[in-house]
Amino acid sequence: MGDHPLLDAWLAAREKGLRPLQIPGHKYRYTGDDPALGSDRLGPLVRDDVSLQGGADDNHYSLGVLAASEALWATSVHADHARFLVGGSSQGNIAALTAVGGPDVTVAVDRTSHRSALAGLVVSGSTPVWVQPRLHPVFGLPLGVDPHELDALSAEVSAVFVTTPSYVGTLGDVAGLARHAHAADRVLVVDQAWGAHLFFMSGSGAFDQGADIATTSVHKALMGYTQTAVVAVRGPRVSADRLDRAVDLTATTSPSATLMASIDATRAVMDAHGDVEIERAVGSVAAMRARLRRVAGLVVVDDQELGTPTDPLKLTLWLPRTGVDGVTLADLLWEQGNGVEAADADSMVMTMSILDEHEFCLEVAEMLAALVERLRGDPRSPVPAAHWQVVPEVVVSPRDAFFASRRRIALREAVGEVSAEQFCPYPPGVPLLAPGERVTAQIVEDIEQAGRVGRVAYCSDPTLETIEVLA
Ligand SMILES: Cc1ncc(COP(=O)(O)O)c(C=O)c1O
Repeated sequence: MGDHPLLDAWLAAREKGLRPLQIPGHKYRYTGDDPALGSDRLGPLVRDDVSLQGGADDNHYSLGVLAASEALWATSVHADHARFLVGGSSQGNIAALTAVGGPDVTVAVDRTSHRSALAGLVVSGSTPVWVQPRLHPVFGLPLGVDPHELDALSAEVSAVFVTTPSYVGTLGDVAGLARHAHAADRVLVVDQAWGAHLFFMSGSGAFDQGADIATTSVHKALMGYTQTAVVAVRGPRVSADRLDRAVDLTATTSPSATLMASIDATRAVMDAHGDVEIERAVGSVAAMRARLRRVAGLVVVDDQELGTPTDPLKLTLWLPRTGVDGVTLADLLWEQGNGVEAADADSMVMTMSILDEHEFCLEVAEMLAALVERLRGDPRSPVPAAHWQVVPEVVVSPRDAFFASRRRIALREAVGEVSAEQFCPYPPGVPLLAPGERVTAQIVEDIEQAGRVGRVAYCSDPTLETIEVLA
């Protein structure tokens, strides 16, 4: 097989002119021209769609192109076994926690984890012990869980789940966490959803630093189709069989060869040119940071400013000293077609990739500098985002709360009750309140405040007036 078996099989399937008597229902007929059947509407959408089963491979997967591509990915990121996913890192986190967890398993989980970690706890039935990341004393941004904190965990904790890079681009100490976790015979699970490029930067990927199992989104920092991700294992602590079982539990039985071939092609591109391209992109983002550092009062959140490592392809700005409101700035950028990853009053986060050319990066830096001058106001006190600092009172496990009977009451009257659902400012998708946690007056205030400045998702009443609590 060649350097990119799944991509080759996808190309070959397209060449073949398939006329299947099986799925997909669109039958690859949208190369033609029949408006009555939607060639004008569906055609542009599905014309690249090829299924894996009975498309890029046969019904028996006898070509084995998916497995071959997954093995190539595993080799590239220094893992033993990898599985391609079309349900994003959300699916990867659910599978990872299912692979290491179970009804009798206790897992230490960073409370600033993405909501999919909670889903993994519900599916696996594992009991979480929440741990908090260190927060920067001035900027209020998460700096990752302190490895020494693992030493204080009770003996029943058999796995640790952390996220790095964080949404704002700060990097956790995976090597330190792995050392401390392994010393106590614990499995280290890393959500590296934002850091697919790190796997292609020498020594920076989760496996090089000691993770036992890690998830990454190929569509975030790299070039895969939206929804693509990979979960992989390395070393003796989590077997390939357990990972397979967990992935198969969560996966579609009709995977898209198109989506998965985009993972294969991304890996092939990164193997061939990734180091050079990443070095160039890191240089471009460094130039953006240097330009923006000259803007009075603007803080560029990087290694230099924080004194701890950050993702070199993330551009996070901290705004209070400029008087600029991050949400207003982000709205202006969205209107002109330059949507940013996330923004709140104090900060704005941008994801850059190897597809952002140097000139574009410099233009963006100039534009941001000009916008900050245009919106400049009086310096103000920061209001650190509540979701980075939730310390919940857990009353029942996420799984018990998820399946419990519930009743709906006014959110403001819910103080003291136990939540049956999740309130999740999105982005970043970190729950302010999770199923099984006690509702407090502070949390109600934080939910209402988050609703005033953005979207609070995954709760049953989008008006945020009511909440489902345990009956
Ligand atoms: C830290 C983290 N993990 C996992 C995910 C889920 O990734 P996906 O959107 O690929 O499902 C996200 C999404 O934003 C995330 O921020």
